[in-house]
Amino acid sequence: MKVFKEKTPLQSAVKAEKSQGKTLGLVPTMGALHHGHISLVKQALKECDRVIISIFVNPTQFDNPEDLERYPRTLEQDIQMLKQTHENLWVFAPTANELYGENIASEHFNFDGLEGVMEGKHRNGHFDGVGTIVKRLFTIIKPDKAFFGEKDFQQLQIVKKLTEKNNLPVEIIGCPILREENGLARSSRNERLTASQRNQAAFIYKTLLKTRELFGTKSAEYIEDWVISEFKKQPDLVLEYFEIASTRTLKKTVSKEKDEDYRAFIAAYAGEIRLIDNIALTN
Ligand code: PAJ
Repeated sequence: MKVFKEKTPLQSAVKAEKSQGKTLGLVPTMGALHHGHISLVKQALKECDRVIISIFVNPTQFDNPEDLERYPRTLEQDIQMLKQTHENLWVFAPTANELYGENIASEHFNFDGLEGVMEGKHRNGHFDGVGTIVKRLFTIIKPDKAFFGEKDFQQLQIVKKLTEKNNLPVEIIGCPILREENGLARSSRNERLTASQRNQAAFIYKTLLKTRELFGTKSAEYIEDWVISEFKKQPDLVLEYFEIASTRTLKKTVSKEKDEDYRAFIAAYAGEIRLIDNIALTN
């Protein structure tokens, strides 16, 4: 296990690997690692000779300073978890100064509308921040493949668009959502849920499963009304949005088209903790 805090030694090490013809996989994270992150690392290990995990709590993607401050930073624990996964991983854990210099600011992106819906609508500037940091990591590390979870499906589509529009020579691999036993999508934020909130949060995935069942027979509008009314019955959960949208464009469905694939997306609060999840409705 090697831990790099600075980009220059990492870049030299990467160059040496590439000169030996090794393929390079990158798993970008913000740390506080859990089994969801580890599933991405395992996928990367299957597909690449050398795997780098970046750990950096990226300030520009937070629209709320308190959320940024509260974000867990557990580097030592993360390194232990990675050591248990594989003895020969590389970690890139830079400071903000190393990545941004003096100017901690986002570049502005046009992702052809993918950025204006759902998470983009509810978290101001979020995807400019994600685009900025992911582009920077790709430019520094130059991975052959980069691994992202479907847990953040909109982010995954945006990163694909980012690489396409900027001709970045990296293949983006989407990985399935890892869940807890009760169905709740794994997240660093789950640690902050009380036992009762955690139980209720299982309702999010249950609703998505029911949505998938209903989607063939009921209209998107009917399902949306049903979801809103079901959430109102949950004392500890507040629905922020529910959308059935095209997998490709992420535009909300008006009517189901034959050749289009769809997914359902939920964002909800359990107390102060914001949870997101999604499911494929067609394939
Ligand atoms: P973070 O929230 O740490 O997530 C890192 C990666 O792990 C993302 O690709 C995310 O989709 C994936 N992931 C998280 N929970 C998962 C789960 N339950 N199942 C499968 N994959 C899961 O996403 C970010 O960090 C940041 O926005 C980042 C891309 C690193 C840019 O700062």
